[in-house]
Amino acid sequence: MVEIKYLVTSALPYVNGDLHLGHLVGCLLPADVYTRFLRSKGEKAIYVCGNDEYGTPIVVAAEKQGLAPKQLADKFHERHKQALEGFNIRMDIFSRTTTPEHTKVVQDFYYYLKQNGFIFRKEIEQYYCEHCKKFLPDRYIEGKCPYCGAEGARGDQCEECGKPLITTELIEPYCVICKDKPVLKKEEHVFFDLPRVEKELRGWVEKHEGMTANAKNFAVSFIKEGLREKDISRNMEWGVPIPDAEGLVFYVWFDAPIGYITFTKQLGKMNWWRENDTQLVHFLGKDNIVFHTVFFPGMLIAEGEFILPSKVIAYEYLRFSGSKLSKSKGTMIKALDAVRALPADYWRYALLSALPENKDYNFTWEFLEEKTNELNDVIGNFIHRTLTFAKKFFNNIVEKPELTQADEEMVKEVGKIVKKVEEAMHNVELKKALGLVVGLARKANQYITAEEPWKKEERKKAVTYTCLHVAKALAVLLKPFIPESSEKILEYLGLENKKWDDVKILEEKFIIKEFKPLFKKVEIREVIEKINKKEEENMIKYDDFAKLDLRVGEVVKAEKVEGADKLLKLTVDIGGEERTLAAGLAKYYKPEELEGKKIIVLVNLEPKKLRGVESQGMLLAAEEGSNVVLLTVDKDIKSGAKVR
Ligand code: 2FM
Ligand code: ZN
Repeated sequence: MVEIKYLVTSALPYVNGDLHLGHLVGCLLPADVYTRFLRSKGEKAIYVCGNDEYGTPIVVAAEKQGLAPKQLADKFHERHKQALEGFNIRMDIFSRTTTPEHTKVVQDFYYYLKQNGFIFRKEIEQYYCEHCKKFLPDRYIEGKCPYCGAEGARGDQCEECGKPLITTELIEPYCVICKDKPVLKKEEHVFFDLPRVEKELRGWVEKHEGMTANAKNFAVSFIKEGLREKDISRNMEWGVPIPDAEGLVFYVWFDAPIGYITFTKQLGKMNWWRENDTQLVHFLGKDNIVFHTVFFPGMLIAEGEFILPSKVIAYEYLRFSGSKLSKSKGTMIKALDAVRALPADYWRYALLSALPENKDYNFTWEFLEEKTNELNDVIGNFIHRTLTFAKKFFNNIVEKPELTQADEEMVKEVGKIVKKVEEAMHNVELKKALGLVVGLARKANQYITAEEPWKKEERKKAVTYTCLHVAKALAVLLKPFIPESSEKILEYLGLENKKWDDVKILEEKFIIKEFKPLFKKVEIREVIEKINKKEEENMIKYDDFAKLDLRVGEVVKAEKVEGADKLLKLTVDIGGEERTLAAGLAKYYKPEELEGKKIIVLVNLEPKKLRGVESQGMLLAAEEGSNVVLLTVDKDIKSGAKVR
């Protein structure tokens, strides 16, 4: 029997701004839920993702913030990682496209296309801004969409109708930097001969059974209109260089999807892309459909060695009280602000209940309130009642009893629901699956109400046992959706690490651990207030900063610390007073290099003992990966001088 491997991907977020709820619901979160399910089923599955760091979206955003593209990418790479962690989105790798490895994979891919005769050059007319003195690719230019008439369509794609565009098709184009009207200039570009794979691509798309309807419909009608050769080069610096075309880099939509391959390679699983027992499953938002159903598969076909996606799961947009939660336009709630205001599981539960599967979904505060209540009243309440029965009636130990018909029916219901949920999960119908699980919790609550174990002595044991069985099932089935809470339930039940197929097994005995209520009633008004406060809380107030007493200090002595190979013990003169500092510098400086150096010390810091050395302050250093350097003064000044 061949063992299927699942290679799950989520569209790579750009690093031009923070992740918001729209990104989460539009691909990152569903891919996490799906992969968690596969793992629980014991399948071989990996979830690869990373940042999309090249292209005009990043350059334009960096220019607006006065940063270099790389600085912007570094900033948002960290923030994206934090947001994903905050939401418990667990990937096997969250990489970046600005690595040397990616450059190599992209350039190799290009050479294969070239070798196979799919690459050619052509002179074309490109918009040029006389004022900014540059060519205007993709997002450097906006105008009216020639297809749907939407204003503010970008040079490479209209977000409203999803059609890819060529800049010269835009109606009333303007430069996004200075708003000037651009002029046309001739330039040689590199093209991918997409029409050459049209027939094969059409056959593949038409036969495909693993695409969501929106993806398939879009792809079929798009190909029907006839494919055009694709310009894959850009005259700019920020991108993967085209190895044989000086001054040109690849269009970001050429390199980004190859990121899926690079990141898999970084995991040491490159072979998965060449083996037919791999199921490649893409999760994405609807504006990315054309790239995942036409361009990228077209590139894969032309390359000739790689597998094609088995599933393309495209979500519609999440709108928030009418406006799309998009990072590039309009209002949005940042993921980081969201988890600061409310624990991840509440959001996960509400967002997954709102998954825009067939049409845009309007997410409202009322909906969030309704769903957090449901979590508390239906699921939390059932679990808590069940655990309380076990504690009150049986002092936490419940052995398997004789079951009556009513109990047997409840157990059977569990089996039925597991089967249905499993089927829905395999079909990536996540909203349906979640609904089925909640339905089970509702049924179980009704069962308790009907059986009244608190009144009927003879029913106590069987009802409690049956409810514990349901609680176990709920915990396992909900784990892909609300992992943190599910883990708690399993811990309370004394059943950590139970997997999907364990649900069917009737435990011989339950030994209940200490437990607490899982959820609480959420005051939405407070959530809104916290979100609105946003990062203000994280900002340091002027007065707070003034509290920091920073001084210039001179290192009078530096020595190694016995038994601590990272630490150095420094004696520092901070102006008539000596302080001892313990600093993790041993890997970067020899003690004798430090003596006599003027450094910057925070002197009003609570003393702290590090490996037996009491540190009476902290010195400042700059860090970049494994490179650590001390901050010092650039002209001489006496020790004790205040740093401001
Ligand atoms: O639309 C976006 O946000 C893109 N960064 C998605 C890229 S997905 C890919 F790499 F294929
Ligand atoms: Zn301009």
